[in-house]
Amino acid sequence: MVAEALESTVVKKNESTRSASSVRDELLAQHINQYYGLSHTIRDMSVSVSPGECVVLMGRNGVGKTTFLKSLMGLVPVASGEMIFAGEQFIEKPVEIRAQNGIGYVPQGRQIFPLLTVEENLKTGLAVRRGQTREIPSKIFDLFPVLHEMRSRRGGDLSGGQQQQLAIGRALVIEPRMLLLDEPSEGIQPNIVSQIGEVIQLLTKEQGLGVLLVEQKLPFARRFGDRFILMDRGSSVARGSMGELTEDLVSEHLSV
Ligand SMILES: Nc1ncnc2c1ncn2[C@@H]1O[C@H](COP(=O)(O)OP(=O)(O)O)[C@@H](O)[C@H]1O
Ligand SMILES: [Mg+2]
Repeated sequence: MVAEALESTVVKKNESTRSASSVRDELLAQHINQYYGLSHTIRDMSVSVSPGECVVLMGRNGVGKTTFLKSLMGLVPVASGEMIFAGEQFIEKPVEIRAQNGIGYVPQGRQIFPLLTVEENLKTGLAVRRGQTREIPSKIFDLFPVLHEMRSRRGGDLSGGQQQQLAIGRALVIEPRMLLLDEPSEGIQPNIVSQIGEVIQLLTKEQGLGVLLVEQKLPFARRFGDRFILMDRGSSVARGSMGELTEDLVSEHLSV
């Protein structure tokens, strides 16, 4: 309750200083509850992400981080709650409508198509763009030059880190205004992890995108996150600016 009160104060405080266009692109999820069968997996979770900020959702394996992102994206049915983006309610809307309205999603484990080429993988991301251009924006290749070099290679031939870059590129082809990113650093080599971090920074700080990032690696979260939300057993147990993520919270709720 206290955390939510604080969160809503932050929202109100920001509202007065934000421009009309940035208010439009705010993600506001409130009191989300989700069940797998009888198991109450997500318990009254609320999150807000403003344009230009990276909010990091943290917590041990199995606490519900992925399920929460899937709930926001409409990939699992929710029992209750609200999912407002740019002032519009999406909680009952299917995933394609959320994507068409500017919400990008990079699933955990990348889930690229191994037999399609890099270019074909990127084009699958364009499928939701009804009636609009079907070209891959050149910006994707500016962000990830390796995808241009490898555009004719099969997805399955790429390294894990390159596949992660491909998965992020595929989510960015629709030029989303909010990106949900599930553990992009998992199982990939350190140099690509920092390149991905720099892309997140560029997207948020220079292009004004909002990012909700699921991340278990503490140094990465601290370096690229503006705020954190700590989850345990389906609920939010702590939240604040990244500087408020104390060692006590880390040892209590994260495995390090
Ligand atoms: N499709 C599913 N059906 C039933 N239970 C699931 C399913 N996916 C995940 N779970 C369970 O829900 C809980 C949360 O999982 P998940 O959201 O993947 O956690 P995290 O991403 O934090 O590791 C876990 O107990 C997991 O076993
Ligand atoms: Mg997960």
